[in-house]
Parts: sequence; structure tokens; C-alpha cells
Amino acid sequence: MKVLFLNASPHREASHGYQLALDMIKKLGAPAQSNMVSRDLAAYPLPPITSDYARAITSREPDERHFALSEQLIREIEITDVLIINTPMHNFTVPAALKLWIDYVLRIHRTFASTPEGKIGLVRDRPAFVIVGSGGHHSGEHALQRDFLSPYLRYALGCIGVTDVHFLLLQGLVRGEAAVTEALKAARETLAQHDLFNAQNATVTL
Ligand SMILES: Cc1cc2nc3c(=O)[nH]c(=O)nc-3n(C[C@H](O)[C@H](O)[C@H](O)COP(=O)(O)O)c2cc1C
Repeated sequence: MKVLFLNASPHREASHGYQLALDMIKKLGAPAQSNMVSRDLAAYPLPPITSDYARAITSREPDERHFALSEQLIREIEITDVLIINTPMHNFTVPAALKLWIDYVLRIHRTFASTPEGKIGLVRDRPAFVIVGSGGHHSGEHALQRDFLSPYLRYALGCIGVTDVHFLLLQGLVRGEAAVTEALKAARETLAQHDLFNAQNATVTL
């Protein structure tokens, strides 16, 4: 089982979501270099979209050279079986670092086709786990803000064909140790319901 791990947290290893992602990767048996593609979008940000890329992506006869980075990022999805994303919520949605990845990966005629019925994904479906770290709450009874991150990311991944998306919400991370412990416990319980991490199915346990 090959895993693609994307980190979009500027806290990197200090991010609780990052550590949970490493646990998941370990339990999937993928930490060996050959079983894993790891891309740190926060430490090594992708370059902003250039005019060449913007022109190529909307051109009928694009200059393929401008797709080199886009192609590399798409191949990283295609050669792996499971996608794990650790992302913070930044101002109610995805951080800029992850948005750039989306802008390179959603490419007409390559990862999706535009049809009279709408966009159709061209990438094989696979499980995707998205760990979302947030300082406050955006879901459940304590929610005091809107969540534009999970519906947006679900829609964007669905656009390329990745529809088996599971969100693990780490909420209230700036509210002290007890809140962090509670958030991690809830995320692990959610995760345990998935076949890949379900103790009964004995693939892995967390
Ligand atoms: C620029 C910026 C914007 C943020 N916006 C939000 C927000 O809209 N809602 C929220 O609950 N927390 C927000 N936070 C707090 C982070 O989500 C919080 O620090 C969380 O721990 C990030 O997860 P991480 O430690 O995995 O990076 C923001 C933090 C930064 C730096």
C-alpha cells in the first residue's frame, strides 16, 4: 500500500495533525521510502501560478512544457493508493500552500473532463484522509464559525475522481492540553471506524 502524505501545516512536526498522520502512515506499513511519497507544502511551498501556466491550462493547444510541475504532482497521486493530508484551517478554509497544490492538480483534459453534465474526474478513486487542525470549533455544538474548508476540499478532490474522502477534525487546538487530548481521542475514534484502521478487520490498529 503506497501512501501520498501532504503536509500543509507551518508547524510541521509540532502539528498534532502531523503526528497523527505519521501514526497512520506507520500503521499502514508505509514509512519505507519506497512505499511513501511525502510532500511538505508548508516547508517547500509550490511556486505561484505563472502566466505561462494560466495560459497553457486554458489553451486548446497548450505548450506541455508549462505542465511539468503539475504533471509531477498528479503523478504522485496516481502512483499511490492512499492520500493523507494534514492541513490547518486558515481563515475558515484551506491554507494558501494547499490551495496552490489544488491549482496544479485540477487540470482540464488531464485530471477532469468538462462535459455537458459537469466536470468528470479522470483519476482512480482511492481513500483520502484529511486531518484538519483548527484553533476553534467549526463543527458540532461548540461551533462559532463557518467551515469552508471541508466542503470545498471534498468538492475539489471529487472533481478529479477522489470521492472516498474522510475528515478527521482536530478542533479547539488553542484551548489547552485537555482540548487537544479530547480532539485527538475523537479523531482516533473516527479513524477506527474505517476498514483500513479497524481493529476487527485487523489491517491496522491505532
Ligand atoms: C493565518 C491563520 C489563520 C487561522 N484561521 C483560523 C480559523 O479560521 N479558524 C480557526 O479555528 N483557527 C484558525 N487558525 C488557528 C489554526 O487553525 C490553529 O493554530 C491550528 O492549531 C492549526 O493546526 P496545526 O497546528 O496542525 O497547523 C489560524 C491560524 C493562522 C496562522
